[in-house]
Amino acid sequence: MTLLDTLRGRHARDARRAHRLDEAEVDALVAGWERAVLGAGFVRTVATVTGPTVIAPRIVHVVLGPPAVLTVRLEPGQTVPDLRALSRRLAPHLGAYGLRVDPIGHGDHARVTLLVADPLAAVVPLSPGPGVLLGRGEDGACLRVEPADLPHLIAQGATRSGKTRWLYGLLGQVAHRADVEVAGIDPSGLTLRPFTGTRHGARQVCGLADLHRVETVLADLVAAMDARLAAMPVHLDVVPLDAATPLLLVVLEEYPGLLRALDAADTKAGKRVRGLVARLLAEGHKAGVRVVLVAQRAEATIVGGAERAQCEGRLSFRTDTVESLRLLHPDADDLAAEHAAAPPGVALVSWPGRPLARLRAPHVPSYAEYAAAVTSTTPGAA
Ligand SMILES: Nc1ncnc2c1ncn2[C@@H]1O[C@H](COP(=O)(O)OP(=O)(O)O)[C@@H](O)[C@H]1O
Ligand SMILES: [Mg+2]
Repeated sequence: MTLLDTLRGRHARDARRAHRLDEAEVDALVAGWERAVLGAGFVRTVATVTGPTVIAPRIVHVVLGPPAVLTVRLEPGQTVPDLRALSRRLAPHLGAYGLRVDPIGHGDHARVTLLVADPLAAVVPLSPGPGVLLGRGEDGACLRVEPADLPHLIAQGATRSGKTRWLYGLLGQVAHRADVEVAGIDPSGLTLRPFTGTRHGARQVCGLADLHRVETVLADLVAAMDARLAAMPVHLDVVPLDAATPLLLVVLEEYPGLLRALDAADTKAGKRVRGLVARLLAEGHKAGVRVVLVAQRAEATIVGGAERAQCEGRLSFRTDTVESLRLLHPDADDLAAEHAAAPPGVALVSWPGRPLARLRAPHVPSYAEYAAAVTSTTPGAA
């Protein structure tokens, strides 16, 4: 036997061993899958002469990766969204952090990617692109929206969960848009300060030194909304937006702080301001007015049920209780425990036309960069 034959023999043995290991890994995945879908009830039950028979959706192809990818043939009656909704129950039994579930063909098969780590662990940069970037999902897809297509927004989350940074991202992106005017009330004094002296500054209040002005500015916004509605052409049901009629983005940063200050000064003022905000929420959409309401907890004393229902874009950054999550996402109970430990900038998001999803907000590295994005006249110059 020559040296070459010996080496060839060793190579063949190594290949056979690797093959056996791969087979064992595939077997383990298939067994894990079957236990997981049985446990989660993602099976079809058919009546046979010997009694009911349970049929699990079959794995028809495996790529070991990493990441491992399973191709699954769904049983009649099963859908890809059904499977996706169960992914948090299935993942641990496949030794994965989470699953990404994509349809194949007409949705009769699913591609299931086993994620080894949180896909939202990495910081999302504020990359340029169409519309405004609100965040990136677990599937890597970005949520980008034209300002005119924004719904009313409500963002809640514990202190230092990333609400204000998210707002910096949003405001920094719309500041240079001629078809958007940023208005609003900012008790912190910092979030809207960079707009002072820009074309946006007129309908803004920074800090709470002058509570009377808070009411004046909100009343002015309601009057602008009413004027737009009164002037609306009869053949339209939504005011067309342009530089002359910009989207009025009404930011209510730290809204509970504002209400507390108003209530402490004069309970009637608090009531009037709540009423003005309720009108902006109820009638603003067709008049090109959007409210962005930020609070630690979207509880009833802050936003009543009717106002909350007007906010179709809902973000919950880290919240400590399932009750808080339920306020904005009645369907989020499964995610509550995990979300209590969410890193800053990661939010659960309910959005019109989308299933509830986790999203990582783009990261504005510093206040200075945010301020520069607002004050620069060219987009993305910061
Ligand atoms: N999207 C994000 N990516 C990475 N880090 C973030 C992100 N958002 C916030 N942070 C970090 O969390 C800190 C607190 O965020 P902040 O927006 O001030 O919280 P909040 O307004 O909820 O109190 C920030 O200073 C930043 O260090
Ligand atoms: Mg804040």
